[in-house]
Amino acid sequence: MPDFDVTVVGELNLDLILSGLPEVLEPERELLAEGLAVTLGSSSAIFAHNLSALGTRVGFISRIGDDPLGQIALERLAEGGVDVSRVRRVGGGTATGLTVILPRANSRNILTYPGTMNEMCFEDLDLDYLTSARHFHMSSFFLHRGLRPRMVDLFKKLKASGMTISLDTNDDPSDQWDDNLTGVLRYVDVLMPNAREARKIARTDDLTEAVTRLAQQVPIVTVKLGGEGALVRCGKDEFRSPAVNVAVVDPVGAGDSFDAGFVHQYVQGKNHATSLAFGNLMGAFSTTRPGGTEAFRDRPYLDDFVSRNWNPTSTETRDATGGR
Ligand SMILES: Nc1ncnc2c1ncn2[C@@H]1O[C@H](COP(=O)(O)OP(=O)(O)O)[C@@H](O)[C@H]1O
Ligand SMILES: [Mg+2]
Repeated sequence: MPDFDVTVVGELNLDLILSGLPEVLEPERELLAEGLAVTLGSSSAIFAHNLSALGTRVGFISRIGDDPLGQIALERLAEGGVDVSRVRRVGGGTATGLTVILPRANSRNILTYPGTMNEMCFEDLDLDYLTSARHFHMSSFFLHRGLRPRMVDLFKKLKASGMTISLDTNDDPSDQWDDNLTGVLRYVDVLMPNAREARKIARTDDLTEAVTRLAQQVPIVTVKLGGEGALVRCGKDEFRSPAVNVAVVDPVGAGDSFDAGFVHQYVQGKNHATSLAFGNLMGAFSTTRPGGTEAFRDRPYLDDFVSRNWNPTSTETRDATGGR
């Protein structure tokens, strides 16, 4: 059994980005795009890819269709160093998911075909593989419809094996924010929403109140604040990181890159302020190239950015209680 730092269960698909489109998309017209980019998409895969690019050993379980787009997504993830030996390719009708992004100057359309991401079920998961790591991460909680009946059971089993667990729910397309999330939160060590998601999960419009409520349920809460950076709350202790000043090209995947940066430090036992600062740095780095993984695929660019902006000797480890 391979030995990982972090294992991930999640969706795996490509993003297709058409740029330079007319501002208004008129029906029935042939509309020309100036650019086309095909990049690794999906929150879970972007997280896994970027975490692996940072040097953490990552194992990934997913279900894809028996089709060329699934194959390309799989290869992209493997190129990032992620172990994909447990990704199941299932033929028979449902194709691998795909997201088409149509950015324009003042807005964008995001069109997603969920495909196999809706069908991954508990039986697709190799629990020995998942528990061979010290830490487990899940993104896009509400998209994993096939896992829903066994979701609490899954988190309970992983926690019982002694792993730490992080969760980024991302958005809930149904806007209900339920599906037994409370049942799952009992087993989560690090909850990683953005500001809107934090308010939705805590069922209050007040962000400070939301963070306080969430911190009563989960030991560590990180909140992503877009162009205002991020914060971490641990009980009554709170740290903030202002946004790193970069030339923003595209915010797609910034939240997943923040998660990757935070978890990369967290699994090394670094304190929460350090993990926060590095997550915040990686979120900003992600925005400097289109798509969620392009900046991280460029190894010299990543190494140069980290060496210019990060001083690892100034960081401290958590205390023996985990810094809580
Ligand atoms: N304009 C920006 N400048 C610098 N950093 C940014 C910017 N936008 C996002 N980030 C970084 O990426 C993180 C995640 O972005 P955010 O949009 O809040 O999350 P999500 O993608 O989950 O909605 C932020 O917390 C911040 O660290
Ligand atoms: Mg997000």
